[in-house]
Amino acid sequence: LLMSIQPKLIIHGGAGSLEGNIEKINHIRTSLEDICDKTYTHLCSTTSYDAVIYGIKLLEDDPLFNAGTGSKTQHDGQIRMSAGLMDGSKARFSGVINIQNVQNPILIAERLQNYNHTVLSGEMATKFAHELGYKAYNPLTAERLQESKLNIVGTTGTVGVVALDSSRKISVGTSTGGIGGEIPGRVSDSATIAGTYANLFAGVSGTGIGEHIINSGVATKIVTRVEDGYSLKDAVSKSINEGKSKDYHFGAIGISSSGDIIVDKTKDTIYYAFSDGHTISIF
Ligand code: GLY
Repeated sequence: LLMSIQPKLIIHGGAGSLEGNIEKINHIRTSLEDICDKTYTHLCSTTSYDAVIYGIKLLEDDPLFNAGTGSKTQHDGQIRMSAGLMDGSKARFSGVINIQNVQNPILIAERLQNYNHTVLSGEMATKFAHELGYKAYNPLTAERLQESKLNIVGTTGTVGVVALDSSRKISVGTSTGGIGGEIPGRVSDSATIAGTYANLFAGVSGTGIGEHIINSGVATKIVTRVEDGYSLKDAVSKSINEGKSKDYHFGAIGISSSGDIIVDKTKDTIYYAFSDGHTISIF
């Protein structure tokens, strides 16, 4: 029996200790609400896969968030971005790691879904994108340049989208400029299966300190637990509690094929918005 279901969507704009002032927090809230609304509308007429790419692109293009335009700089002052994309219905992961001079890393991850080799890194990822016709683009904003000069290193990073469409397919995308001030070339969790994972049962996107997310294998572990019989809620709280016991900083958003939506974090705040078609909830 193939019944179409109510689509579900959750997005995040990173985690942190409420960095910045109230005005900035309010901007983040307004942006997330707007992007959640637009992406949900898109999800209702397309697929979870298309909606994830659409939503991540909007988040990357918004300079408030540390992904795409507005990415943080690594220790040498250079921006290196990473994005991961997973189509749960096909169990296919793709991503770019430390790509430079492109506007939307998620679009390069999307292109890689159609290749046999689905994850590219560094200079060759950049070259691949430019050869496909994506124009050279400088994602550095005046605000990030200033932060970089003052050596301001935050803990916020990453944007993510998890979507469930009317035919119960789940997709996930995550994009980041890293944590800021890291060793040049350091690899984020976002374009790994610790930060981005989906299958037929659930999808999860992580945010927070990449090393903590990788050590805990967050997204893949939660999704696997759901596949093995845990409820999404129990699977997430188990991973969050394990993270808390190690004093780790991370958060996760997720959706299961039965339509459960979850958001949780070890500490700090995770900036999120979700929609079930009736109401939008904001952090
Ligand atoms: N989660 C973003 C990073 O650690 O790079």
